[in-house]
Amino acid sequence: MTDTTKSATLSIGGQTVELPVLSPSVGPDVLDIRKLYAQAGVFTYDPGYTSTASCDSTITYIDGDEGILLHRGYPIDQLASKSHYLEVCYLLLYGELPTAAQLEDFETRITRHTMIHEQMHNFFRGFRRDAHPMATMVGVVGAMSAFYHDSLDISDPWQREVASIRLIAKMPTIAAMAYKYSVGQPFVYPRNDLDYAANFLHMCFSVPAEKYEVNPILSRAMDRIFTLHADHEQNASTSTVRLASSSGANPFACIAAGIACLWGPAHGGANQACLEMLKEIGSVDRIPEFIARAKDKNDPFRLMGFGHRVYKNFDPRATVMKQSADEVLDLLGIEDNPLLQVAKELERIALQDEYFADKKLFPNVDFYSGIILEAMGFPTSMFTPIFALSRTVGWVSQWKEMISDPQMKIGRPRQLYLGANQRDYVNVENR
Ligand code: CMC
Repeated sequence: MTDTTKSATLSIGGQTVELPVLSPSVGPDVLDIRKLYAQAGVFTYDPGYTSTASCDSTITYIDGDEGILLHRGYPIDQLASKSHYLEVCYLLLYGELPTAAQLEDFETRITRHTMIHEQMHNFFRGFRRDAHPMATMVGVVGAMSAFYHDSLDISDPWQREVASIRLIAKMPTIAAMAYKYSVGQPFVYPRNDLDYAANFLHMCFSVPAEKYEVNPILSRAMDRIFTLHADHEQNASTSTVRLASSSGANPFACIAAGIACLWGPAHGGANQACLEMLKEIGSVDRIPEFIARAKDKNDPFRLMGFGHRVYKNFDPRATVMKQSADEVLDLLGIEDNPLLQVAKELERIALQDEYFADKKLFPNVDFYSGIILEAMGFPTSMFTPIFALSRTVGWVSQWKEMISDPQMKIGRPRQLYLGANQRDYVNVENR
C-alpha cells in the first residue's frame, strides 16, 4: 500500500518530517500521519474529516467528482438494474458475487432468521404509540444484545457471522413492527415464501382481517431502494459504527449507535425532511420563496434532498432512483400528484440556478426515495427506518472488516484545545 517512490515533506519549527504516501487501488493518494505526533509533536486539525481517511477498506469506492459509486468494484447502476438486494448483501459481506449455490444458501440463512425473539414483542409494547419508529428501532436493536447472548463475542468469527445474519434478517421485521405499533395495528409475522422486499411490504401493509397481495413492481422498487442504500463507505453513521465497535462493544449496540446517527436530517433523516419540505412548499408558485430562503445566508433553511459531502457532480444513486420513481408513479397512476409537481419544478428551477450550480448542489438519493415511498403508502416517519434497514448490511460489512483487521485500534481523535489554562479552584463565597 505504501508507495516508496513518493513521500511528502513537512517543515515545522525548523524541523523536517518525511510523511509516507499511501497509494490506494484507485483514488487520491493518502498521507500517512500516524507517526506525526511522535516525530514532530503536532496534531492535524480536520473537523468533519473533510481531508482525513479514518481507515483502509476494500468494500466501497466513491469518486464524488465523477459521480461513481462501486461496491467491490461493481458500479451501482449495474447492481441496481441487474442484481437484487440480497445478492448485493452477499457481495458487500464476502467480497465476491455469489455462485447460484452460495446465493441460495445465503438467502436461506437470512430467511430462517427473520423472526425476532417472542419476548421482544413486550419490549415494543413499552414504547408510546406516538414514538418515532427510529426511536423504537434504536431501542429495540440495542436491546438485541439482551436477547442474543450467543452472538456477542466479537473475538469469535462464527459469532460475528451469526450476529451479521441476524441483523440483516431481523431489521425488516423490527422496522415493520415499529411501524405497525405506531399505527395501532397488530404485528405481522414474516413470511418465508416471500423475497426480502416483498416480505417487508407484507409485514408493513397486510392485516389479519384480509388478504394482501404484494405487487411485484412495488416489491422490485422496494428492493431497488434497499440496494441503492446498501453501503456508502465512511459516511457519518458507518463511521459511528466503526468508532463504537473500536472499543470492543457488541455488534447490536454498535448498529444501534449507527441507527441513532443516521436519524439526523443532514444524513438519513433527509428523506423525511425532504418530503416535509415539499409539503410545506405546497404549490409550484411558492417555490421561488423557498429557493430565495435556501440562498439567504441569514436563513438556516436548506433545500433538503440537495447537496452531498462527496458527490459534487451528480449522485449516481439519484439517477437510478429517479427512474424508479417514474416507474412507480406511472404504475400507481399518480403523475399529477401536487407534491410530485412541486418536486419536479423544484428540481428544474434549482438545477438552472447559478447558486446551486456554483456550489455543486444536485438532488441526492433522498430527494427521489421519499417520493417513491410516499406513493407506496409509507408515512414520512418510516422513510429513515427504511434507510436504516437497507444500510444495515453496509454497517455490518464495515464492522466485520474492521474487527478482522489486525491493525485495529480504539478510535480516539485528538483536539485543538481553546479553553482556559490551568487555574486554581475558587470557593463559592469568593466567586
Ligand atoms: N441547500 C442550500 N444550500 C446548501 C445546501 C442545501 N441543501 N447544501 C449545502 N449548501 C451550501 C451551504 O450553505 C454552503 O454554502 P457556503 O459555502 O456559502 O457557506 C455550501 O453549500 C457547502 O455546504 P456544506 O454544509 O459546507 O457542505 P457539506 O459537505 O458539509 O454538507 C450536506 C453536505 C449533505 C450535509 C448538505 O449539502 C446538506 O445539508 N444537504 C441537505 C440535507 C440532505 O439532503 N442530506 C442527505 C445527504 S444524501 C443521503 C445520505 O448519504 O445520508
